[in-house]
This record gives sequence, C-alpha cells and structure tokens, in this order.
Amino acid sequence: MTFSPATSSEVGYSQSVESRLKVQHLQQRTKEVSSLDGSDVVEGLTNESKFLPARYLYDDRGSELFEEICELPEYYVTRTETSILQNCAEEIAEITGACEFIELGSGSSTKTRILLDAYQKLGYPLHYFPVDVSAGILETSARQLLVDYPWLKVHALAGTYEQALGELQRSELPNRMIGFIGSTLGNLNPQQCDEFLSQITAGLQLGEYFLLGVDLHKSKDILEPAYNDAAGVTAAFNLNVLNHLNRRFDGNFDRTKFEHWTFYNETKHQIETYLRSLEAQTAELRALNLKINFEKGETIHTEISRKFEIDSIEQLLKSKGLVTQKIWTDKNEWFALILSKLT
Ligand code: AVI
Repeated sequence: MTFSPATSSEVGYSQSVESRLKVQHLQQRTKEVSSLDGSDVVEGLTNESKFLPARYLYDDRGSELFEEICELPEYYVTRTETSILQNCAEEIAEITGACEFIELGSGSSTKTRILLDAYQKLGYPLHYFPVDVSAGILETSARQLLVDYPWLKVHALAGTYEQALGELQRSELPNRMIGFIGSTLGNLNPQQCDEFLSQITAGLQLGEYFLLGVDLHKSKDILEPAYNDAAGVTAAFNLNVLNHLNRRFDGNFDRTKFEHWTFYNETKHQIETYLRSLEAQTAELRALNLKINFEKGETIHTEISRKFEIDSIEQLLKSKGLVTQKIWTDKNEWFALILSKLT
C-alpha cells in the first residue's frame, strides 16, 4: 500500500475501508490489573476522602456525553483549540513532514480532520494511530475517517495510553508525532503528569515530535460555567460514573441520590469536580464485595482539570528533553498548542 494522498478523482480507486483499518484491543498488563479488577475503585471508595480515578468517566456513554460537552456554549475549550488548530495545522505538517500520528484520547477524532486536511494539502503521507479507552467511539470514528480520507491508513488501539505507548510498533514512515490535545493533561495530577511525560519520551526517538494542547489560566467566571453548564450535560457526564460502576461491578448506586458539584480552586489553578451525596445512604458494589456508607453532603472526588501557564509547561517539557519548536495560541490566550521535539 502506498500513502500518497488521493485527489477526489482518485477516491473511487482507493482500497476498501477494511483493508486500511486495523483495530487492536490491548490486553491488560499485570501492573495495570487494578483498573480491571476494581482494586482502584476499592482504594478510592474506602479512602477517608473518597475519590475515583477519572478514567471511570469514560465508558461509551461517558464518551458520548463528553462529545456533547464539547459543543456546549459554555465549554470554550474545544472551540478555542479548534480555531488555533485551523490556523496552525499546515505549519505543523510543514515542520514534521511525512509522519505517523499517534493521538492519545482521540475520542471522535473531530479535530484530527484539520490535521489530516493539512497533510493531504501539502502531500505528506500520514499514518494515523488513534488511542482511546472507549472501543465503541474509537472504531466508529476510525471507519468514518477511512471513508472520508481514501488515502489514509488507520491503526486504532483500544486501551489506556500506557498500554498503547508500550505496544506501538513503528510503521514504515520516517517520523513520529504523538498528540495529546484537548487539555487532557489537565486531568492528571502533577505526579501522573510527570510519569505520563516520561512515557511520551520513551515512545519517541530523538528528533520526533510531541503536540500538546493545554488550557491556560483564566477567570473563574469563565471557568466555572464551563464545568457546570446550564443544560446539565456536565452533570450527566459526572453522574454517569455511578452507572458505569453499577454495570461493571454489579452495583446499586442510585444516581438520583447524588449531585454534581464543581468549583475552581484558585490556589491550585484547577477545576475540582465531585459527586455529592444528597442524603445519608449505603451503596453496594457486589462484584467487589464492597459496601460504601455516605453521610449527607459527603463527596466522591471524580476529576481535576488543571489550568496551566505556558512558561511552566515549557519548563516541564524541557525537563523531559522536549524542546519547544513553536507555540500557537488564540487572541484571548485562553488555550495553547505547543509543538515540541525530543532532543
Ligand atoms: C477531557 N478533559 C480535558 C475535559 C476537561 O475539560 O477537563 C473533561 C471534562 N470534564 C468536564 N468537562 C469536560
């Protein structure tokens, strides 16, 4: 198979979607077994301050709700990043040249289309590796991309970032770019962030690229509505964690007895999101042999969304050998895309 971008007149001669698609379901490794057997849930829900790993937000329904969040008027994040990407995609393609693009947390791959269009326009081959924990949305989006881009080859990996970065074989293209856009880095605490960036550098060879999208510091008046929208979609996204736990661990959480609670912590520069119990209650996860008692008002911490400063992110990247090549931002400086190179 060649990777030459097709013109629209060549579309009819492209190979079938099936022959250009590979979907790989990654196996749990021993060290990650906690996310399979639920020991991370037991750990979080038996802690004095209850918490859950943010990954439980993303079953197939959670991923659908997140796609809805991206369209909300209050959620400026996706819109802003998309507009930046529209302005800089060709520059990115020019800098990297032909490459394999590994997108961590690809979701619906909507923003990826902007990059694909740019590589296509400049005639640079691109091999796309989307990685997502939600196998449903991963495969549907991959198939749609293959219909719309008849020259594209997609190798979709259903699993965690750690698994994907550990498993990826190099393709025949000379260069690699790992993309982590959408400010998902903000959902990791500083320690997780540090470990994650080490995994990124392990997945790259010298001279290869990392494209990072980060949400920047801004006023509470913009941030809080973005995570507590009037239509209640973010609330539904957060409450869906309980459905996810019920299904996965044979549970009886009653989501009508919890509410979505979120605020901006101005000291830590992070949105903090919780589920708050509306009454004293006990829930059970039978598959984990776990009974969880809640007092009225007690919370489960489900997510952080950290907001960054460009300088400190650049420093952090540099400490991992990732040197900034170029930074693009919007006119309000709400969001930044940083292209760095492993040196
Ligand atoms: C995926 N991530 C960057 C989103 C964020 O903004 O932290 C997830 C999200 N949570 C609530 N709204 C959006």
